[in-house]
Amino acid sequence: MAILSVNVDHIATLRQARGGKEPDPVTAAAMAELAGADGIIVHLREDRRHIQDRDVRLLRETIKTKLNLEMAATEEMLGIAREILPEMSTLVPEKREELTTEGGLNVAVQEKEIARAVTALQEAGILVSLFIDADSRQVEAAKAAGADFVEIHTGHYADAETEDEANRLFTGISEAIKLAAALGLRVNAGHGLNYTNIKRFVGLEAEVEEYSIGHSILSRAVLVGIDQAVREMADLVRFL
Ligand code: PXP
Repeated sequence: MAILSVNVDHIATLRQARGGKEPDPVTAAAMAELAGADGIIVHLREDRRHIQDRDVRLLRETIKTKLNLEMAATEEMLGIAREILPEMSTLVPEKREELTTEGGLNVAVQEKEIARAVTALQEAGILVSLFIDADSRQVEAAKAAGADFVEIHTGHYADAETEDEANRLFTGISEAIKLAAALGLRVNAGHGLNYTNIKRFVGLEAEVEEYSIGHSILSRAVLVGIDQAVREMADLVRFL
């Protein structure tokens, strides 16, 4: 059975739109946990466009499940992670101009640098996940870099415009997931997953431990409330 971690970045996006105190991602995280989320994820970006340092500190103190700190592998972020001590850090590539994380890490090209970040985090007792595209070279490089987990990027599959494209991209995802598991990596998946496209992952329950989902849940939450939105997704994920 897979588990659901809820990314609450977009609660902070709404708060930052007015620069005030509400809505608070810390409150949203507590409500998501009460509705059945198994973990909370936040991405502390270099430009602090949504999640702030204060949010990460308060989440560390208040959440009852587990905290996954998504971050770039910079000295600043490594220092913050080693101080805050999330249960997991997910390393992602980060570009100032992007709307959201666009692609996976190029571990195959930056293996040494990434391996150094992986070790720095693991030495502090933090599990490390590398967000990568569904590409065998990247899976093998993640293994070589010493990662505990990979998070397979599902965003291109989620954005597919035709059934054929979705089928082709899903086959690649499924192969990457199976390769990672065969190499002894633990596997998460995420980006762009919603209440419909998640159903495709049925049958991968032996390989995928956790789904990382934010935008679709919070979009539904605006209309039906966060409790119902999280419960509906948690039910789908547990059925996979
Ligand atoms: N995983 C990673 C690495 C991400 O960067 C994001 C977006 O912050 C997500 C999962 C969640 O994506 P979405 O908000 O599209 O569900």
